[in-house]
Amino acid sequence: MIAETLSLAGENIRLRPFTLEDAPRVQELISNWNVASMVARIPHPYPEGGAEEWIAGHNERRAAGDSWPFAIETKKAGLVGTIGLGTTESGSMEIGYWIGEPYWGKGIASEAARVLVEFAFDILGVERLTAGHFGSNPASGRVLKKIGFEEVGNDKRFCLARDEELDCIVLELTAQQHREST
Ligand SMILES: CC(C)(COP(=O)(O)OP(=O)(O)OC[C@H]1O[C@@H](n2cnc3c(N)ncnc32)[C@H](O)[C@@H]1OP(=O)(O)O)[C@@H](O)C(=O)NCCC(=O)NCCS
Repeated sequence: MIAETLSLAGENIRLRPFTLEDAPRVQELISNWNVASMVARIPHPYPEGGAEEWIAGHNERRAAGDSWPFAIETKKAGLVGTIGLGTTESGSMEIGYWIGEPYWGKGIASEAARVLVEFAFDILGVERLTAGHFGSNPASGRVLKKIGFEEVGNDKRFCLARDEELDCIVLELTAQQHREST
């Protein structure tokens, strides 16, 4: 069993489990249309107490092996976003992330995704990762393609914040593709 205290280090960032003390900071960064409107499952406005409730469920989901959520920290700014792996309805392991808007464009998502992918393949032993981004979010596509994800199709996903279905680009990266590229 992998400890709940596990943290993963990158060159400029650290990934660590959330604690309830992070809730106000998560609430602050996530209460932003430009973040919520680009992900599937973040409502907008974000409900009061929503971050606390979300974090409170992490240990159980991690223990069940369904979900690996990490806070992304930088030395200078502390908690700047989140990245994680979650099991989808079809049984695949999917990567998802958001970065607080003041910290966009500094390479944080790219580094966090690189660290998380190593964790998924090398520590968890996952064989295949999936990811999806809305068609209107090329920055996220760029983050994924830089670490080797390839487009495998399109689907429609419901966006809670927009309250509508949107076109989504689906990508995949297998452990073998990852090994061959590193
Ligand atoms: C998408 C998001 C995670 C990117 O985070 P970030 O830390 O700014 O990303 P990075 O700085 O590591 O990299 C962004 C890359 O996208 C590129 N990019 C930015 N805007 C772009 C655009 N409109 N079109 C194409 N590429 C774009 C950047 O140039 C950079 O690529 P580069 O390193 O080759 O120059 C962040 O904007 C975010 O959290 N958005 C809202 C939530 C979200 O979209 N989550 C993902 C859901 S799938």
